[in-house]
Formats: sequence, C-alpha cells, structure tokens
Amino acid sequence: MHRLGDPAEVLQLDEVDPPGPGPGQVRVAVHAVGLNFPDLLMIAGRYQERPPLPFTPGLEVAGVVTACGEGARHVPGDRVMGAPVLPAGGLADEAVLPDDGCYEWPAGLPAADAAGLFITYQTAYVGLHRRAALRAGEVLLVHAGASGVGSAAIQLGKAAGATVITTSGGPVKTAACRDLGADVALDHTTDDWVAAVKQATGGRGADVIWDPVGGDVFDASRKCIAFEGRLVVVGFAGGRIPEVPASHVLVKNYSVVGLHWGSYRRFEPSLIAEAHAELLRLHAAGVVRPLIDRELPLEQAVEALHLLATRQVAGKVILRPRPGP
Ligand SMILES: NC(=O)c1ccc[n+]([C@@H]2O[C@H](COP(=O)([O-])OP(=O)(O)OC[C@H]3O[C@@H](n4cnc5c(N)ncnc54)[C@H](OP(=O)(O)O)[C@@H]3O)[C@@H](O)[C@H]2O)c1
Repeated sequence: MHRLGDPAEVLQLDEVDPPGPGPGQVRVAVHAVGLNFPDLLMIAGRYQERPPLPFTPGLEVAGVVTACGEGARHVPGDRVMGAPVLPAGGLADEAVLPDDGCYEWPAGLPAADAAGLFITYQTAYVGLHRRAALRAGEVLLVHAGASGVGSAAIQLGKAAGATVITTSGGPVKTAACRDLGADVALDHTTDDWVAAVKQATGGRGADVIWDPVGGDVFDASRKCIAFEGRLVVVGFAGGRIPEVPASHVLVKNYSVVGLHWGSYRRFEPSLIAEAHAELLRLHAAGVVRPLIDRELPLEQAVEALHLLATRQVAGKVILRPRPGP
C-alpha cells in the first residue's frame, strides 16, 4: 500500500527486502493469512489504527519463524500464529510478529484453520466470556452470523451452553448459521427478526446480543434485549455508529458493553494466551472449526477483499502465500 483507498486501485504486489525483525520481534514465512473486515477499513484509511505509508496490510497469520531479533525467545523453525506488526503485515511472503505475541501453531492444525482461529475466535471468546459473561442456559442473539466474528460467536455460544439465535442476509448464509449450530437462524432480508426473537424467547428477549453491524441493527436490538441483558458493541460493518439514550438503558436494566479485543494485547496479554489454549482445546475436541468460505493464493488478494466488501462470503477468506497443509 503506497496510498489509501479502494483495494482494486491501491493494492500492488511489490518485491521488497525481507522485513525486520527488530529487537523482540521474529520474522515468519507466512503460510496462511486470514482476511477481516478491519482490513477493508485500514486499506481505506478508516480504521482506528493508521500505519504510516507504505505498509503491507494483513492482520492475522499462521507461519514458521525464519529469523529472530535480539532478545526473542522463539527460534527459527517454530510454528506460530498471531497478529503481525505493521508495516510488515500478513499479505506477504514474510511478515514480522512480536516475539511475545506469537502463539503456538500446533502440528496437525491446517494452516487455514490456524489463521482463521486467531482474531475472530479470540474476539468472540473474550467478548462472550469476559465482556458479556455469557452463562449456560442464556439466549445469545448473534448478528451477521455468517461473518468472521459472527460464525465464531455461534460456535462459542453453543460451546458455552447458550441457545443461539442468528440473523444474516439470504438463504446461503442462513443455512451456514444453522450448520454452525444456530438453534434459530433468521434471514434479515425477509424476516421481522425483532418479533421473531421475542417470539422465540416468550417475550423476554435475548440475554446477550452480539452486534458487529451497528446502525439500525443496534437500534432494533434494544427492542429485544432481556432484563439485565448485555448488548455487545463489536463493530460497525453497516457503516453508521449508533447512539444509545441512557434513559433507555436505565429503564430496561440492560448494559451496553464495548469490546476492543486488540486492547487486551496491551492491558492483559495473559487473557489472550488463556483464550488461545482454550480455543486449541475446543478445536482439537471438534467443538469449534473455523467456517472457511475459500482459500485463495496471495496474488488474488484484491479479488478476495472485493468478495468481503460485497458481503459474498460466508465465514472466512484465507489467502495462501505458499501452498501446503
Ligand atoms: N471489537 C473487536 O475487537 C473486533 C475484532 C474483529 C472484528 N471486529 C468488527 O466486527 C465486524 C465484522 O468483522 P468480520 O471480519 O467478522 O466481518 P465480515 O466477515 O466481513 O462480515 C461482515 C458482515 O456484516 C454484515 N453487514 C451488514 N452491513 C454491511 C455492510 N454495509 N457492508 C458489509 N457487511 C455488512 C454482512 O452480513 P450479512 O450479509 O449477513 O448482513 C457481512 O457478512 C466489523 O465491524 C469489524 O470491524 C471487531
């Protein structure tokens, strides 16, 4: 990226020197990189983080350590997953990771699953357990159930013993939500989902609402949240940042809970390590499995980002700079 804008206009494939690693960093050969909605925002210059230009986007990778900076505890050959340090992001042959932000990529875990198990599952795990304190037996409403963070929230909600209701757009995505374990999968293009959530909960509403969309979806969610419910603000894929009247929060006894997973890297990295261990355990037990829409070679990054931007994806798109399991 030499300038910000539409991926089709501003992404170019360059030959550059291998990046870093600086002190406390490692360089990894990237085997798989997961795309996320925040990639679109960052490429357009609309994300909260704005790396200086030029930079390589790409926020989560699985790869093998090839070089270590001063003080790094990893060694070449280690299989790791994590979030690259920009400007040396993951849409590349090699990326740079913080040594203390590398998590084990176990042998036997396919590269695409590993890349798909990082940001989206970490976000859903920390959001549902730490921020929303989801309990077994509660009702969880997951918006954009076929998105990256939505698909993870469905699986982790079911793993936590919740009843899961989802919204998503169109029959393909609704079917994907059902396959992931949703008890009720609503299509927001045809269903009155507020009424359906009330009906499915005997008028009580959902205890926890997972909202990666914002805007009108957030506003309508306030109509079907239960007494002492938790409305988790995950993102604004719909484009509008909503506002909430404090009087409504008071009268209906619910909480609006903010979630920025990236902040735990700074404030409580031990929670990320804990979540990673639990996610690997759940994956090994067959309880969670990233929903991967497709894997594409790195050279198709522009096409892949276009699919994401135009909502044509159910689950994750994973790019592969090098082939392999
Ligand atoms: N808080 C955190 O720490 C954190 C971490 C990661 C991601 N996020 C946020 O979570 C949200 C989802 O991220 P993701 O990577 O999971 O997204 P994604 O896989 O690209 O899915 C986004 C989904 O949002 C729905 N959507 C509604 N309005 C949309 C619009 N105008 N344009 C595009 N999609 C729209 C679509 O579902 P339907 O077609 O079914 O409506 C779409 O599939 C983003 O806002 C992202 O920034 C937050």
